[in-house]
Amino acid sequence: MPVTVRSFAKINLGLCIGPSRPDGFHELRTVYQTIGLHDILRLRLERGSGIEIRCADRRVPTDQTNTCYRMLELGMSALGAKGRVVLEIEKRLPIQGGLGGASGNAVSALLALEVAVKKRLPAGDRLRLAAEVGSDVPLFLVGGTVLGAGRGEQVYPLADLPSTPCVIATPEIGVSTPKAFADWDAAAAKLTLPEPSARMNGFSREVSAWLSSVPWEKTSKGRCAGAPARGRGRAETQLLDLVRTGIENDFERVVFPQYPALRDVRCALEKAGAAYASLSGSGSAVYGIFATRGAAEEASARLGKQGIPAQATVTLTRGQYWKRFPVSSF
Ligand code: C5P
Repeated sequence: MPVTVRSFAKINLGLCIGPSRPDGFHELRTVYQTIGLHDILRLRLERGSGIEIRCADRRVPTDQTNTCYRMLELGMSALGAKGRVVLEIEKRLPIQGGLGGASGNAVSALLALEVAVKKRLPAGDRLRLAAEVGSDVPLFLVGGTVLGAGRGEQVYPLADLPSTPCVIATPEIGVSTPKAFADWDAAAAKLTLPEPSARMNGFSREVSAWLSSVPWEKTSKGRCAGAPARGRGRAETQLLDLVRTGIENDFERVVFPQYPALRDVRCALEKAGAAYASLSGSGSAVYGIFATRGAAEEASARLGKQGIPAQATVTLTRGQYWKRFPVSSF
């Protein structure tokens, strides 16, 4: 029996790009939020050796360049496991960037491998391996609402936002993340912006201020947790309080001028009733936050009629993320 798991996507509720670093990456601050759209991964261990990745979608690489390949290689070695790993990826998520699809796949593959070999890696080792595979891989080891620092790989669980309806638009435009970072450097040099580190401190301050305003509640186990939604519109309000602190996505400033169609998608989401809409990561995925599931469904249908591929979903709290993660044999 294969181990079957879900592999969720994320959006960025704001992203502040800091200075470029000697290692070629950029320092950044972001708030990641996991959402309900997902792929399905099936993993089994056979006799022999090597890693085999299968995917019916031809746009997904099945060689060493697939993030799952590197993650499984690192995982097999860290677990001291032997055998041939066969991983089947059922691609349901749009391939468009900005949703962390490949990064989520890597984490799901690692956790499925642990189940298959009946051995667990310590949490710190998992995070280290995930950071080796990519900057936005570790967030999928936390789930829910997550603060990202460093190059995005340092992750801190934030007070969980109640599940909120949203629409994910995935226009068929490919945006190169390294190029978007380089374009930001060139643009930032021309813009009269405060020092990069001062901007990042400002971002962190806004998130801290929001955190201190989030209602906290004692749980039955005596711990504190973000208070659950009470009444209509409450979930949306907490999320909106965060995005409206001004933690916008810096990538919009360089990606929208190059791909005006993406700005139009954000406008289309706003016109369709989104209380807030933004580019996710460097795009091209654009999301909108809605008051109700019905409003989100209507908006995604409206975008579809305008020729913009879109899907309605909800944001996932940390609890929902982990509860829905396993499909079988977990
Ligand atoms: O870590 P990941 O493989 O996702 O990064 C892809 C590329 O994006 C990097 O090689 C780098 O050019 C750019 N990047 C960056 N700063 C970050 C994250 C990514 O410059 N914080």
